[in-house]
Amino acid sequence: MMKKKIIVANWKMNYDLHETTSFLRNFLKYINEKKIFHNKEVIIAPSFPFLHISNQISQGTSLKIAAQNIYFKEKGSYTGEISAYMLKSIGINIVIIGHSERRNIFFEDENSLLKKLKIALKHKIKVIFCIGETYEDRNKNNQYSIIEKQLNNTIFNCSTDEIKLIHIAYEPIWAIGTGSTATINQIKKMHKFIRNIFNKKYGNFISNKISILYGGSINHLNAKDIIYSDNVDGGLIGKSSLKIEQFLKIVQS
Ligand code: 13P
Repeated sequence: MMKKKIIVANWKMNYDLHETTSFLRNFLKYINEKKIFHNKEVIIAPSFPFLHISNQISQGTSLKIAAQNIYFKEKGSYTGEISAYMLKSIGINIVIIGHSERRNIFFEDENSLLKKLKIALKHKIKVIFCIGETYEDRNKNNQYSIIEKQLNNTIFNCSTDEIKLIHIAYEPIWAIGTGSTATINQIKKMHKFIRNIFNKKYGNFISNKISILYGGSINHLNAKDIIYSDNVDGGLIGKSSLKIEQFLKIVQS
């Protein structure tokens, strides 16, 4: 059976209550559910305060709602943080971990990302785990070793059973929000590399099964070519997921 393509909208710190709810209602109104969802999984990640209502709006549809972050402790004196337990209590079963903005702006290191990963998996929350190299890394042709290191320090500490709850998102940092995507060739090569190291580590079954998404300046014009490239199982989309006409086009492409 063909793997479903996974399209994830990462809304980052955008949209208030009204904007979030009207986007979701319109999206569900305009989308042809049967046609789209039989071969695609669509996930939208709004901001924390609107996760609950977003989940309520999408109830009874195939649209899924994800959180953009999680904290690695169960509960306690961690002002401003959100736990796995809280997310589960409002029916959120998917979280994005390791986004380059979390790593760079909020100084999340691989040690804390691994803890976040483990707590999410413990609570059976699916993880979209982001990895990616900087412009300097690529210029020095270090992209493959950087990606391998990022996986070694985090994901590769997971058991075969845990891996089944993880999607990888390859997001080269130089392509995020810049309007210039990686070329199809660069994407294909990196995705093949990632799948091969999963193969070495976990064998054929897992490496074929794991979904590897691409993220970085996907828009309605380039989405189809990227998402249907070899070894690409979907896309993680920032800016272009905020405009409903564009996001509908991406999902329908
Ligand atoms: P853009 O699509 O705006 O480049 O953002 C990509 C991204 O960071 C998704 O997580």
